[in-house]
Amino acid sequence: MPASIVVGLQWGDEGKGKTTDFLAEQVAMVVRYQGGDNAGHTVVKGDEVLKLHLVPSGVLYPHITSVIGNGVVVNPETLIGELDMLMSRGIDVSRVRVSRAAHVIMPYHVALDRANEARLDGAKVGTTGRGIGPTYGDRAWRVGLRMEDLLDKAVLRTRLARLLPDKNLLLGSMGAEPFEVEALVEKAAGWGVRLADHLDDTTWLVQAALARGEHVLLEGAQGTLLDLDHGSYPFVTSSNAVAGGATTGGGIGPLQVDEVMGVMKAYATRVGSGPFPTELLDEIGEGIRERGHEVGTTTGRPRRVGWFDAVPIRYAVAVNSVSSIMLNKLDILSGLESIPLCVAYEVDGARVERWPSSAEVLGRAKPVYEWFDGWAEPIHDVRSLAGLPENARRYVTAVEELAGVPIVLVSVGPERTQTIERAWRPMRRRQAAGLV
Ligand code: IMP
Repeated sequence: MPASIVVGLQWGDEGKGKTTDFLAEQVAMVVRYQGGDNAGHTVVKGDEVLKLHLVPSGVLYPHITSVIGNGVVVNPETLIGELDMLMSRGIDVSRVRVSRAAHVIMPYHVALDRANEARLDGAKVGTTGRGIGPTYGDRAWRVGLRMEDLLDKAVLRTRLARLLPDKNLLLGSMGAEPFEVEALVEKAAGWGVRLADHLDDTTWLVQAALARGEHVLLEGAQGTLLDLDHGSYPFVTSSNAVAGGATTGGGIGPLQVDEVMGVMKAYATRVGSGPFPTELLDEIGEGIRERGHEVGTTTGRPRRVGWFDAVPIRYAVAVNSVSSIMLNKLDILSGLESIPLCVAYEVDGARVERWPSSAEVLGRAKPVYEWFDGWAEPIHDVRSLAGLPENARRYVTAVEELAGVPIVLVSVGPERTQTIERAWRPMRRRQAAGLV
């Protein structure tokens, strides 16, 4: 059975957690393929609200194996904290498998990230301060530590003795404290002991599941517009959030994927710095932020809020080969008098319909809007497209036409049941068609 990918089409926080949760019953394995504890999702189990940054939310389902793939950067302290928290709530974590090849976020990566942001002043990327960039940087520079290295004290000592003088020099130049080899060796080896039972060759795990005919879901963190290659560089994260990242970071080949579900909200949000052409700096934006609870799960920062922007969506649909879309948080727009949709930009007097790769160009882009009448009714209880107020239906149809891909799921509230299934769920259709 082929694999499916769930990918964010905006600047992250599109509600991918709800999508995965909604699809979970049909899935045997959920694989995180990039990012680290910069991501965050809130999952609800009965009366309990759990905040997870690393462990895929599939862990809450006894039938799902949760995999942290080789493309993820792992802060072992965060991971151990999450495993302990889950265990204390009676959740079985033995099915959490972590790639031996995933890179380790070390304390000096976190210190470098924070010290660097502090000195950037007005040019800050606005990172989450979790050491993501420095860890991926070391990976590319071939001086990183991988999870399997935590199992061998001798390897740790040799590598850290070689690395730390450079790290300390850089940290010192930014006024930050140095690290000591032996203390770090002990700490890292301790993590290794605690996590040894979770480490695995996850590529083979994924491949074996596919060979057995099981359904594997690959889950991206962040979103396409924060992708290292496709976002508005340098205001991006340091990994490939796009669907292609699932192949390198999740251990599958391109032809093993038959479904890419793009996830987007009915409006846009962004955390951190960088251009945001449809940003709302008024009380309408404030209202959406409040109603939509738009506060960063990891940093607690209020998210920047704006109107839906179709220009990057067309791009995101193309670079991810999106085959279906889940539209989230339509209910948050209820009560607005009119709703603009950004269909193009005006840049230096010219109309631009293609997402510009340059942050400078994007910074000069002015949105060209098409206006839609709003709807007053709450829509939490609506379960079919026909049941939506006419203006809400028009808005969804317009967004779908601009995206050029069927919107198959529309979320009208935070609960799993508050979802409109507009078409066959693609994964179900495959079963119905007898293709499995
Ligand atoms: P980093 O990933 O911490 O290096 O941050 C780089 C950029 O990505 C910053 O603008 C962050 O706010 C943003 N970012 C990272 N992770 C997330 C996320 O999960 N949701 C939204 N924005 C994120």
